[in-house]
Amino acid sequence: MAQYNTDYELLLQQVTGLTYGETDWVANMANVSAAIFNQVEGLNWVGFYRVVDGELVLGPFQGQVACIRIPFDKGVCGAAARTGEIQRIDDVHQFEGHIACDAASNSEIVLPIKVDGEVVAVLDIDSPEFSRFSQADQDGLAPIAQLLSQLANQSAAN
Ligand code: SME
Repeated sequence: MAQYNTDYELLLQQVTGLTYGETDWVANMANVSAAIFNQVEGLNWVGFYRVVDGELVLGPFQGQVACIRIPFDKGVCGAAARTGEIQRIDDVHQFEGHIACDAASNSEIVLPIKVDGEVVAVLDIDSPEFSRFSQADQDGLAPIAQLLSQLANQSAAN
């Protein structure tokens, strides 16, 4: 298995700069998905699903075309939305109800984005490698999800 050493501090700085002063939530999701996709090695899909009328709906992303709607009781994204907890899955084929949008995906991390404690979106990051995401990746991505929560909150207020 390849070892990766992503500089998440730098990525957080870049994402902070990219979104600075911008309140448009779609534009911010678009640029953040591109930044992660291009800065983090070993990925095949990075993107957002927003909570719309009680289900997840595809948002800005990088990668192959993906399924548009995911119910809360389906897939890794649904589990993140339902529980409000980060889902880090070493082998998606072992995950009950996993939705294979891109057959190349073998591992996945999904981070919930919350406003006032409610999940408003999830950030889904997929890899063709099994066990691509370590605790260090999770720890590095969590502050980016936190920043996204602030951006979502800010755009909701506009
Ligand atoms: N694999 C995800 C679905 C989204 S796509 O991979 C882009 C899941 O099981 O929730």
